[in-house]
Amino acid sequence: MKIIDHPLAQEVLTILRDRNTGQIVFRKSLVKLGRLIGYEIARTMRGQEVEVETPLGVKAKGFRLTDADHVIIINVLRAAVPLVEGLLKIFPAARQGIISARRVEEGVAAPEFNFKIEKNYVKLTKIRPEDTVIIADPMLASGCTMLAVLEEVYKVGKPKRVIIASVIAAPLGIQRILEKYPDVEIFTVSVDEGLNEHGYIVPGLGDAGDRAFG
Ligand code: URA
Repeated sequence: MKIIDHPLAQEVLTILRDRNTGQIVFRKSLVKLGRLIGYEIARTMRGQEVEVETPLGVKAKGFRLTDADHVIIINVLRAAVPLVEGLLKIFPAARQGIISARRVEEGVAAPEFNFKIEKNYVKLTKIRPEDTVIIADPMLASGCTMLAVLEEVYKVGKPKRVIIASVIAAPLGIQRILEKYPDVEIFTVSVDEGLNEHGYIVPGLGDAGDRAFG
């Protein structure tokens, strides 16, 4: 579990939380956070020493982030779209998968928060043992959607790492994911207090998809 406490990430999160932030700034802020989360993920990746020759004809020791050659980013439609745009700036060679999964909201969800998940489009690339799979979804709330996404991912293969890239996570979602998939790594900018009776994260930022897409 990695909470990204970088001041820039915390500042951007504050803009996202603000109810007065409009669609354009909201979407651009999610792109920025995708980039910042990507930096933090890159920090945990492996690479190897290399040597290059500079224009002075001198050898210089260097580094290649080889793990970044084997990244798969999974876009959980639709709120993840701007987050993925940011992640792709850090991992431009990533292969991509798309899952359209959403919870079927039926009135009040408390106290169990067991949402039925509708998956109406699943298109994943082949997953190999050397791959790092990054599942992008800005809001990890009850965990129901993410559990459904993880089920699809593990149907396709067993990668080296599975990372959830989220902006805000709720304790219930984190607990459910780690209970079933203890090796999954969660990167988030904030762990919030909990969920309201409709399953929205509190204090949260509202409905990320609605705010990003108008
Ligand atoms: N999805 C959202 O967009 N917001 C929440 O608070 C929870 C799930």
